[in-house]
Amino acid sequence: MAVSIGILGAGQFAGTFVKLFRLHPGVGKMLVSDIEAGRAAELCERQGLDGTVEDFNALLASDVDAVAIFTQRWTHGPLVVQALRAGKHVYSAVPMAVTETEIADIITAVKETGLIYMMGETSYYNPATVYARKKLNTGEFGRVFYSEGDYVHDMDLGFYAAYQYSGGENWKQTASYPPMLYPTHSIGGVLGALDAHAVSVSCIGVKDEHDDGVFDKNVSIFHNDFSNATAMFELSDGGVMRTNEMRRVGYPSHMRESRFRYFGTEGSFEQLARVSVWQDKEKVYDVSAEVDTSSTMSADDPALANVALELRDAFTSGHAPVHDVKRLPAELHGAPNGHEGSHHFLVDDFVTAVETETLPPVNAWVAARFTLPGIIAHQSANQSGQRLPIPDFGDPPVMLNTDS
Ligand SMILES: NC(=O)c1ccc[n+]([C@@H]2O[C@H](COP(=O)([O-])OP(=O)(O)OC[C@H]3O[C@@H](n4cnc5c(N)ncnc54)[C@H](O)[C@@H]3O)[C@@H](O)[C@H]2O)c1
Repeated sequence: MAVSIGILGAGQFAGTFVKLFRLHPGVGKMLVSDIEAGRAAELCERQGLDGTVEDFNALLASDVDAVAIFTQRWTHGPLVVQALRAGKHVYSAVPMAVTETEIADIITAVKETGLIYMMGETSYYNPATVYARKKLNTGEFGRVFYSEGDYVHDMDLGFYAAYQYSGGENWKQTASYPPMLYPTHSIGGVLGALDAHAVSVSCIGVKDEHDDGVFDKNVSIFHNDFSNATAMFELSDGGVMRTNEMRRVGYPSHMRESRFRYFGTEGSFEQLARVSVWQDKEKVYDVSAEVDTSSTMSADDPALANVALELRDAFTSGHAPVHDVKRLPAELHGAPNGHEGSHHFLVDDFVTAVETETLPPVNAWVAARFTLPGIIAHQSANQSGQRLPIPDFGDPPVMLNTDS
């Protein structure tokens, strides 16, 4: 039976996912709610949804099977728990939560209700991460002992307008959101490939020097003045992961805002804004085209030679050759995509998980491992880089093996 979904938060990010949920053949009725009622009405009208409801409580009281949460990034934890406790499956935009307690509460609620929770981590399907998963499966990396993940997005590139829309007239209070509390793209892109999790961290925060008054401890509700931060993590397999979260940086994030490097004993992968290479002990191979979603390929592109004719349109809608588009429902082919081709896979993962009552790849336990290391990293940065242990909630009850 089709899954009915209630959307919470009709802001800037929800629309692209609403459209994909609407197209997915496994989704039925869709409702929407936003504190700003006009936003919900507009999204409902634009995407042809089945109605708006007054508020979150009304959404939970409705007969939808699932709730998809697209509210501001520091709000998710308590909303997710409330939705699970009301008997709804939950899709949540990143991050999972902003404190260890909130994460623990979500995991407890998932365990006790047996409902599906999924965090929509776009980096899990970043082409570089997909590429690294495949190379790990074939053994070509050998042992990966060092990796890097960067989320590089300057305030000048859209963030002022986004935070003003999001925060209203007091937007500076929240535009100072600590970079390491938004760690899931950089961490998730590394740990989405490796069979390891972070066990300790030392992080250095860079105090902001810009005069726009955003990263000001006296204004920030997060009491934060770091605009950039770099963390070094010890991993459970004895390896090392370094992540960068940058909000003041001369870098073209519209070309590639999440970028990765993985170094193994036999092979390595390195990525810049426009170039991605695979290397072994003899050679460098330019694999940029395999992980590239930025250029629209024409259907007769030689790179598509081995792709069935009926699937070629999927490659013109923001997927990379490394993506397994064959697993997606035909209704999504050609639909708008985003974040390096990840959106279609995330929507399909959630619907499939609810339909089949199985854990999605980025389930609560995996989401915790993508989120909590950043929370502890921010604590470390606030203690001048002191190395701190990272609590772990363990493996998911059933480990999933995905090669897509
Ligand atoms: N790559 C990615 O995965 C990615 C990219 C962008 C945004 N996001 C995430 O998407 C989420 C939404 O981001 P956005 O830019 O759309 O934010 P936004 O501020 O534009 O929209 C949030 C909306 O939620 C509404 N809202 C807040 N609390 C509510 C409540 N209790 N009940 C009903 N409505 C409520 C607000 O009124 C607002 O319209 C954030 O968590 C962000 O981290 C993820």
